Amino acid sequence: MNRPHQRVALVTGAARGIGLEIAAELARSGMLVALADLGDSAAEAAQALQHSGFEVMSVTMDVTDEPSVAHAVATVTRRWAAPAVLVNNAGISRPAATLDTGLDDWNQVLAVNLTGPFLCSRACLPAMQDAGWGRVVMISSFNAKSAPVNGDNASYAASKAGLTGLIHNLAVEFGPSGITVNGIAPGIVDTALLRQAHTPERRAELVRRLPVGRFTTPAEIAATAAFLVSDGAASITGEIVNVNGGLYFD
Ligand SMILES: NC(=O)c1ccc[n+]([C@@H]2O[C@H](COP(=O)([O-])OP(=O)(O)OC[C@H]3O[C@@H](n4cnc5c(N)ncnc54)[C@H](O)[C@@H]3O)[C@@H](O)[C@H]2O)c1
Repeated sequence: MNRPHQRVALVTGAARGIGLEIAAELARSGMLVALADLGDSAAEAAQALQHSGFEVMSVTMDVTDEPSVAHAVATVTRRWAAPAVLVNNAGISRPAATLDTGLDDWNQVLAVNLTGPFLCSRACLPAMQDAGWGRVVMISSFNAKSAPVNGDNASYAASKAGLTGLIHNLAVEFGPSGITVNGIAPGIVDTALLRQAHTPERRAELVRRLPVGRFTTPAEIAATAAFLVSDGAASITGEIVNVNGGLYFD
């Protein structure tokens, strides 16, 4: 069995925000981490982590594009080894009232948030099966379970709810191979995506609703991801962990 310090992790959407924080946390835990994102957008973040002494690399990947996913996974595998850990983090949001949501936006959100995790999982799972060990973590959202905050993001809510089905199915399908598949449902995390989705006034109103009195930090999502990919979490699968400051309970 591979030892934790030798494990290779692939994190999608890792150029910034939550994905970057997860990549940094997994690197701190001793993993070899590939930061995947559009174009060369992850290169700068990877360089900064390398300067801090971590063994990381950046790869170009569009999670919606099958050849791009295959090429990125092959690049990582050639350099180190096949990813034993996959974090499907890349995501987009196109908030709009349902009647104002165009088909292009709907399709794009579904492509990045749902088809992307399918393509990346399908590309990485065979090697995990061969190794008899693997971890897949999907970054979902509170929108997958409940919409107490907004009713203006049907495409996003549908994509993340779809992810729930993917998580559950993969957990059953790949559990016998030593692979766990889990999700994290962040609450409201202060990142570029959030600032694009809500005005400052709306953000202040949202904070007032949170029992912990503040937004969740990317570091708190990263800490949860690091736990879910650890050996200690081997019996947790098919779970979607709320990290939401008490936004809602289930
Ligand atoms: N910020 C929040 O409050 C919040 C809450 C719940 C869930 N989430 C989820 O967390 C994840 C990360 O969100 P964030 O807030 O860090 O967003 P972000 O916009 O800061 O970062 C998302 C990253 O994904 C990349 N990306 C977009 N499309 C891609 C594609 N086709 N292929 C590869 N990479 C692509 C972007 O380039 C970007 O670097 C998303 O899945 C999001 O839905 C965020």
